[in-house]
Amino acid sequence: MAAVVGYDRLKEVKEFDNSKIGVKGLSDSGITTIPNIFVHPPEALSDLKKSSSTCTEVPLIDLSGVNSDLHRPKIVEQISEAARTWGFFQLINHGVPVSALDGMIAAYKAFFEQPTEEKAKHHSREESHGVMYASNNDLYRSKVATWHDTLQIWRAPEPAKEEDIPAVCRREVVEWDVHAKKLAETLMELLCEGLGLEGGKLKELGYSETRAIVGHCYPYCPQPDLTVGLGAHSDYGVLTVLLQNEVYGLQVKHGDGWVDVKPLPGSLTINVGDTLQIISNGEYKSVEHRVLANSSTEPRISIIEFFNADNRDKLRVHGPLPELLTPEKPAIYRNFTFPEFIKNFFSKPFGTKALVENFLL
Ligand code: OGA
Ligand code: NI
Repeated sequence: MAAVVGYDRLKEVKEFDNSKIGVKGLSDSGITTIPNIFVHPPEALSDLKKSSSTCTEVPLIDLSGVNSDLHRPKIVEQISEAARTWGFFQLINHGVPVSALDGMIAAYKAFFEQPTEEKAKHHSREESHGVMYASNNDLYRSKVATWHDTLQIWRAPEPAKEEDIPAVCRREVVEWDVHAKKLAETLMELLCEGLGLEGGKLKELGYSETRAIVGHCYPYCPQPDLTVGLGAHSDYGVLTVLLQNEVYGLQVKHGDGWVDVKPLPGSLTINVGDTLQIISNGEYKSVEHRVLANSSTEPRISIIEFFNADNRDKLRVHGPLPELLTPEKPAIYRNFTFPEFIKNFFSKPFGTKALVENFLL
């Protein structure tokens, strides 16, 4: 079936948005065909059909002993190698208690399973601060919608007011942020060491200063072959920490193919963002990833904490770290200010690596 043309797309998008029902509500209503606004063109869908490569896997790294002189060098090597080749890795023995992992998934699931009236209290299209519940952050920017809803909660530099965080997940969100921040700072140290930098360099430069927790719900989709859960993209920030429940869907681009990021119980998935690719002068890679529409009746829940550069100083210049540049390895990216970077991000089609390419020298 081809994508449907000749209908009033904006009208249908607005109706869907105003209903605040989300794709979870559509799915729960028992529909058997998806609305036109979610149907992707055949050329976009053909790439999804290629089965994922099974002969290779996202690197799995055991963080136990990360603070011991005996184990740390090996872990630095593994993380740095994974960030250079895959841009993605999975962690076990990362120090975040299983109770916090399970509690966070259960709390977000409980949020999305509430009736529309409850979720609607948090409905917003304000992406840059506070709390936002909506289906498709880019609903009005993208050509085609995708099969997921989102609850986004800012944590820094300006945290959302606690009373604005939905009560069903408030305690878990606050606790999660503490764990994820600690882990991200450890990872940034390891990534610095892997580049031959002082461990504290990224933190000192404010590259872990901005944090948002973004939880997605990918409910059952009755026509998973006609849409996607989340389109292919790379993350624009520094580092991403992802927690997922047991439902498959996330895939990462590797070589010419797409590889499933297995939902290993107790694990966390980490990926490099565009900012880190640029400031590491291309040593670490920000890699495209996507989520397939969910064909299982159990909703897929993923909770992502994004760690981004401090962007309060609008005039501050970012670019490849001078410590990494040598005559043999000159800068391959130009410097930029954050407002310029963000403007580029929002003006490029979601789903391409154009952001980073645009800053190539
Ligand atoms: C994202 C993302 C993946 C997922 O929100 O940037 O890549 O599994 N999400 O939900
Ligand atoms: Ni992403």
